[in-house]
Amino acid sequence: MSDTGNGETADGSTASTAKGETAGGARGAGETVDLRALRAELGVDRVLEELDESLVGLLPVKSRVRDIASLLLVDRMRRSVGLVTARPNLHMCFAGPPGTGKTTVASRMAEILHSLGYLPTNRLVVASREDLVGQYVGHTAPKTKEVLKRAMGGVLFIDEAYSLHRPENERDYGPEAIEILLQVMEEERERLVVVLAGYEDRMDAFFSLNPGLRSRIAHHLEFRDFSVAELVEIGERMLAEQGYELSPEAGPTFQEYIERRRAQPHFANARSVRNAIERARLRQATRLVESGGTFGREELRLIVPADLLASRVFAGRGPESGPSCTETA
Ligand SMILES: Nc1ncnc2c1ncn2[C@@H]1O[C@H](COP(=O)(O)OP(=O)(O)OP(=O)(O)O)[C@@H](O)[C@H]1O
Ligand SMILES: [Mg+2]
Repeated sequence: MSDTGNGETADGSTASTAKGETAGGARGAGETVDLRALRAELGVDRVLEELDESLVGLLPVKSRVRDIASLLLVDRMRRSVGLVTARPNLHMCFAGPPGTGKTTVASRMAEILHSLGYLPTNRLVVASREDLVGQYVGHTAPKTKEVLKRAMGGVLFIDEAYSLHRPENERDYGPEAIEILLQVMEEERERLVVVLAGYEDRMDAFFSLNPGLRSRIAHHLEFRDFSVAELVEIGERMLAEQGYELSPEAGPTFQEYIERRRAQPHFANARSVRNAIERARLRQATRLVESGGTFGREELRLIVPADLLASRVFAGRGPESGPSCTETA
């Protein structure tokens, strides 16, 4: 289980008294609420812009995130003019292939829900089956409750949620974890948002076996494989963030790398790109150290075709050179 960044900002307030209430307050009929002032006060635009700018592609996902933010803004305005309104259900499902940004978007979602006052913290806790389900009788409930306790006040992201259900195994304790989750998703909906994530087809099968869970999920976000152009852009951005750049000749090589890698097994979209870049850095370092001499800024920054061509992805295209690593993800 991992508890990602998001520097905790728990202020101990409950969702209904969280920040931003002053732009609304409890007004009577006939009063108005200024949407622009509310947005500025909550700071939600900054998070949405950051989401747009920092992540390549993902247009349908970004648009759904905006829809959810709008729903919550309107909910806040309704409350502030005295309209009775039940807190919207915010539990979600993020379905899609590996490495398409599900965990990253969940982290932004935690920030949005916090900035809009729907969660006391912007914490994201990522958990998978091993964190929730025990191997022996009596072990599952304490494990699940411990994870829920850590996530309380923020977002609990359950990776490969369907692995909680293993019908082929009679003595599986997954259903016990699901039972507790269901109860907490209902009872603590003011303080906890659960995001169930995984491959789309397996999520569908999981929901049909667990209708109770399906009925508690209000928002389904679909993530799609990135296009080659998007993967290239993701790679270029990752390099730039680390102070590297593809040389002009390495641009087409990188694109070819992606086209080839995409057709191979265990391809995991942006995660595979991140791994490819790490390996290219390693080869660049080996190349520079082996060549010796003095180096300028440019040489230290540039990834050249040889740093990519040594990958096994290009096996069969020409002679291999330099350190090669197995391309796993
Ligand atoms: N749209 C994007 N633009 C730029 N970088 C991205 C994008 N999507 C993902 N990444 C980067 O790719 C890596 C993998 O993303 P992330 O872990 O969010 O994917 P995931 O869908 O949760 O993967 P998995 O299904 O394997 O858990 C991260 O380093 C993330 O920063
Ligand atoms: Mg993930």
